Amino acid sequence: MKLILLGAPGAGKGTQADFIKAALKVPVISTGNLLREAIAQGTELGRQAKSYMDGGKLVPDDLIIGLVKEKLASHDCEQGAIFDGFPRTVAQAEAMESFTDVDAALSIEVPDEAIVHRMAGRRTCPKCHATYHVEGNPPKVEGVCDKCGEKLGIRHDDDPEVVLQRLEVYHAQTEPVKEHYAQLGKLRSVEGIGSVDEIRKRIFDTLGLNV
Ligand code: AP5
Repeated sequence: MKLILLGAPGAGKGTQADFIKAALKVPVISTGNLLREAIAQGTELGRQAKSYMDGGKLVPDDLIIGLVKEKLASHDCEQGAIFDGFPRTVAQAEAMESFTDVDAALSIEVPDEAIVHRMAGRRTCPKCHATYHVEGNPPKVEGVCDKCGEKLGIRHDDDPEVVLQRLEVYHAQTEPVKEHYAQLGKLRSVEGIGSVDEIRKRIFDTLGLNV
């Protein structure tokens, strides 16, 4: 299955992608994580992407499309993939249609006020990309990743001013992607307010997966 996860920054795409990955047994292609890895490794892509990401803006379409196309061609994506953070513009969605078909696009709907609170408490693992929240989804040991033991950090773009910019970019450039998939009859939506497990159940129900 090829599934796109849509939703505002902080809507819970990365959190829920882990559960869907375990159920579908296909990898997650997270463009945000790929870009952060490129920055950490000091590659040319990372160098080009950094200033856009730090400012809460989208990285240019041509850089992203090539990255996803290359990732999808790897053999672990033969049975499908979950796309977290791609496509984020209608141009990316149209370009994607030239190299693959998707089964569904699932939008996790969360109002802006809740997003600001979530981002303020987010902690992430720089090594395995696991995501936590200091109140809603804390790690077992404060400041330490449950999965790999790495010290947790705060993303540069979770600064409140950058979060507001990212929300503005989301409404202007990414929300139209929902309409694109609605017209193709592929859009599914779930309410993203509630506990992590409640949202997981709603998503599994919508996708017809075993809860
Ligand atoms: P990216 O890394 O994709 O960021 P994003 O889409 O803004 O999404 P996030 O990772 O911030 O949030 P999420 O929805 O995954 O939420 P999470 O599960 O962490 O992109 C970063 C940047 O890269 C972009 O700004 C852009 O510059 C660039 N980029 C990436 N893709 C691109 C593309 N295709 N084109 C151009 N540029 C691109 O959850 C958030 C928090 O909430 C966590 O703390 C979590 O624990 C908590 N939480 C989750 N669920 C719940 C719940 N139900 N209740 C309470 N808290 C919850």
